[in-house]
Amino acid sequence: MTTMTTKITFHIQNGGQLNGQARVAGDKSMSHRSIMLGSLAQGVTHVTGFLEAEDALATLQAFRDMGVVIEQLGDGCVTIHGVGKNGLKAPTKPLYLGNSGTSMRLLSGLLAGQDFDCVLTGDESLSKRPMKRVTEPLAKMGAVIKTSETGTSPLYITGQAGKLHGIDYTMPMASAQVKSCLLLAGMYAQGETTVTEPAPTRDHTERMLNGFGYPVSQHENQASINAEGQLTACDIDVPSDISSAAFFLVGASIAPNSNVLLKHVGINPTRIGVIDILRLMGANIESLNEREVGGEPVADLRVTSSQLKGIEIPEHLVPLAIDEFPVLFIAAACATGETRLTGAEELRVKESDRIQVMADGLQTLGINAKATPDGMIIQGGSMGGGVIESHGDHRIAMAFAIAGLRANSAITILDCANVNTSFPQFKAIASNLGLTLTSQEEA
Ligand code: S3P
Repeated sequence: MTTMTTKITFHIQNGGQLNGQARVAGDKSMSHRSIMLGSLAQGVTHVTGFLEAEDALATLQAFRDMGVVIEQLGDGCVTIHGVGKNGLKAPTKPLYLGNSGTSMRLLSGLLAGQDFDCVLTGDESLSKRPMKRVTEPLAKMGAVIKTSETGTSPLYITGQAGKLHGIDYTMPMASAQVKSCLLLAGMYAQGETTVTEPAPTRDHTERMLNGFGYPVSQHENQASINAEGQLTACDIDVPSDISSAAFFLVGASIAPNSNVLLKHVGINPTRIGVIDILRLMGANIESLNEREVGGEPVADLRVTSSQLKGIEIPEHLVPLAIDEFPVLFIAAACATGETRLTGAEELRVKESDRIQVMADGLQTLGINAKATPDGMIIQGGSMGGGVIESHGDHRIAMAFAIAGLRANSAITILDCANVNTSFPQFKAIASNLGLTLTSQEEA
């Protein structure tokens, strides 16, 4: 078992190909939301495909700390004994949310209108991430939340039960976390809360609320909610996370003679920017057996090797692929010609500054990658090996592991323990498909 202080280093033997099939870990966004809404529902919710990784488990623990009985039955099966919309209890200690921005931002909305106070904390990376994007609109609703001077956590929430009021808010950035935060606060506010987004972002909160029978109206780029609904327990089948599948979509595209089938992957239209971008680059990705599971579209994705070409990434695809850019930058490094990304300044405030950290890592491998304020310009080329600093960012670590498939010597990646926040089976699945990855643990 790894602990928070365990240092993990990945060693990737260069070369190889990916072949076979895999069902990657459950969707992280949906796993968080299944715990939140299942806890607030009347009755017992059964979740399958739940992501048993540190981020979603931090959310699960937070709800246990607020008095919800949640059984982990193994193999992604979780049973939540819902306490109803007003049934949460005051936690006796700060709620620790680890590395999870989703958990902290959504909980700040959900807890702003409770009849108790609480404190939200996180790890070093989460403690640096901007929280004013949620606390400022929540304050307009009447919430009382104290942050540090710079707008970071810990968040000290003074519950305002019965005192929140709805607002009509236009988000300055395309953020599903901000939208979801305000919709969850809106469940406790007088009047209507309407959130307008500048570009479409993932809509799992809206879909899952509707699945629990709580009305959310959606019209063009707006979502509205009020306090009149109730959540009724239901069964949730969480599909595989396209953000985890993305590592193999890129890996099998860039490694010669590869052919991989990724089973039961969520293909919600607000999440498939990575497929659209890879197809524009010339990838061979087939979507098979498309079906709908619990209100979310799902498919099996077959991907085979191809010679990718550099493109200008259309800006409207940026929010729809926001978590996949680390590995898309690896695809760009293996493509012929230049790839340009613009309109992606949000990447600078993820688990790390993903523009700078990826540009630095690509340069270490001999790739001409230039960071810009809102994106990157990458010239595809021949990739060498070297030592990469992942800055504790799970998706940076996994992206550079995939780069090993095309590098011409070995790659060592430092600080990989946080792969466990989203995809603990990464090493096993990647090895099974054909990547030569060994890891070294130090206490
Ligand atoms: C998430 C939304 C995205 C994404 C994050 C998960 C969610 O963040 O990067 O990993 O579950 O709502 P933003 O909404 O801040 O872009």
